[in-house]
Amino acid sequence: MTTAPFPWPRWIVHRGGGDAAPENTLAGMLLAAFAGAKMVEFDVRLSADGVPFLLHDDTLERTTDGHGPADALPWKALSRLDAGAWFSPRFADEPLPSLADAAQLLNDHGLCANVEIKPGPGREADTGARVAADCARLFAGQPQPPLLSSFSVAALAAARDAAPQLPRALLLAEWHDDWLAQAQALSVCAIDLGWRELTAERVAAIHQAGLWLLSWTVNDADTAQALWAMGVDALCTDALALAGQG
Ligand code: G3P
Ligand code: MG
Repeated sequence: MTTAPFPWPRWIVHRGGGDAAPENTLAGMLLAAFAGAKMVEFDVRLSADGVPFLLHDDTLERTTDGHGPADALPWKALSRLDAGAWFSPRFADEPLPSLADAAQLLNDHGLCANVEIKPGPGREADTGARVAADCARLFAGQPQPPLLSSFSVAALAAARDAAPQLPRALLLAEWHDDWLAQAQALSVCAIDLGWRELTAERVAAIHQAGLWLLSWTVNDADTAQALWAMGVDALCTDALALAGQG
């Protein structure tokens, strides 16, 4: 089987902001847009009261002035945290964005979305279902649909059931032999594999299965060139200088 032409931009800015701004913030997405990027990847989880918002870690300490598990607080409390000062005083008071706020900014600036479903422990199914349902509504009518991705098979299964029309990608931190069975069971359109795990044989096997191949996180032009030559369809990067190439 051969894969259809890849329908999204080939460069994707990692964690919402790349290297110029605190990760998973509106400031980062805005700077990515100004740098010429066309697509942004960001991490979404649920607050205690079920609001989807952007944060990478299960806990608040690394990238906010909050403490403890991120899904222990309601959205009202989360929305008051500072998610920018840890990166630089210039970004002090930058808030955690809701998924709705992020979608509005991306739509306003014509950026495509790669929404990574990042459930807190035990919240795989409800996070997958809620994020997918909200994405179907928030990105309706955009030229390209959002690409939903996750390391969590349970979250992707719930996303498939909640919004089967949205494309999905299975994230793999490490290559394993179950990848094809999982991809078929989840009806994903793509595999998203850490670039150090890529080999020519794996690229061929993924394309042979009719799936696109995305890879992360590639921050230098030489590595990118080698991966393009292998046939990778899209690369996720922190480097806005690369992502600005479109
Ligand atoms: O989507 C690729 C990448 O975002 C996965 O890793 O840990 O940065 O979410 P992580
Ligand atoms: Mg991510």
